[in-house]
Amino acid sequence: MTRLSLTRPDDFHLHLRDGAMLAGIAPESARDFARAIIMPNLVPPVVTGAQAAAYRARIDAALPGAGFTPLMTLYLTEDTDPADVVAAHRAGIITAVKLYPAGATTNSASGVRDFDRVRPVFEAMAEAGVPLCVHGEVTDAEIDIFDRESVFIDRVLDPVRRAHPGLRVIMEHVTTQDAVDYVRSADQGLGATITAHHLVINRNSLLVGGMRPHYYCLPVAKREIHRLALVEAATSGDARFFLGTDSAPHSDDRKECECCAAGCFTATNTMPLLAQVFEREDALDRLEGFVAHYGADFYGLPRNRGTLVMERQDTPVAFPAKIDTGAGPVTVFNPGFDLHWRVVAG
Ligand code: DOR
Ligand code: ZN
Repeated sequence: MTRLSLTRPDDFHLHLRDGAMLAGIAPESARDFARAIIMPNLVPPVVTGAQAAAYRARIDAALPGAGFTPLMTLYLTEDTDPADVVAAHRAGIITAVKLYPAGATTNSASGVRDFDRVRPVFEAMAEAGVPLCVHGEVTDAEIDIFDRESVFIDRVLDPVRRAHPGLRVIMEHVTTQDAVDYVRSADQGLGATITAHHLVINRNSLLVGGMRPHYYCLPVAKREIHRLALVEAATSGDARFFLGTDSAPHSDDRKECECCAAGCFTATNTMPLLAQVFEREDALDRLEGFVAHYGADFYGLPRNRGTLVMERQDTPVAFPAKIDTGAGPVTVFNPGFDLHWRVVAG
């Protein structure tokens, strides 16, 4: 197959930041994607419906005429008002709520420490049908960073889901076989997003032959067996797994320094990367479900009507190494192999 025509895809997990960074990187997503779930981990975080509405307006202003719909989220804190969440959802301002365990990742200091304190919010969300997006890692100092996702499933996610069976949960950016198995074990109300970069890199990519800051993200890439489990889940046609890129730009000075910020910036070449991964698995016929159908179905959104056409070429496709933004250059994720697919029409 050398030409693919897909329903226009959506990105169910995206960091667009704010200000000059937003202006510089938002077009990279809007070029190929129709909609994206927008992460609320700004500084300060987006915690109220009014703040989400204001942030959405800033995103719209950064993308005039792009035909891109930002789907907003609220950052869950121990002080979140259940009534504000429900009102913002009813008003169409937010699509979901995001749970960060406190300290788990970039700008997560206001996240949840005591899960009992957010029970009333979960109850209201279950009742009103507001989905919960979860960063699934424990933050306890004694838990090894490579085990934080699997421990989170046992200690936090499963108990929360049992306590609130009506809550629709998206386990975001899954990185382990354990998470894939857990999602498969649930009969309803649980989906998972998978990033493009976790389909491509493992922890050797990050650490062997020198540390590669542009491969450092959270959850951190795991062993090869876990990457293979993610590839299998993404290409299997199982509708519980869908694309959420977690494209997370940081300027190069924040990546190439003593304490590197977490995040891979993939927005520019997500679709070529995915086409290559699916082609390698002989699963190009399943790409459309993963990028354009299953996520929308899980969220109860209409599927997009537009199309995205991709073409395969024998010579490698050239992508920019960096995107220059008013907030400094941002390095584009380099998979370490040539890409042969490109988007020819959106
Ligand atoms: O690698 C990551 N970067 N993981 C996250 O959860 C947050 C994100 C960011 O905001 O930079
Ligand atoms: Zn993220």
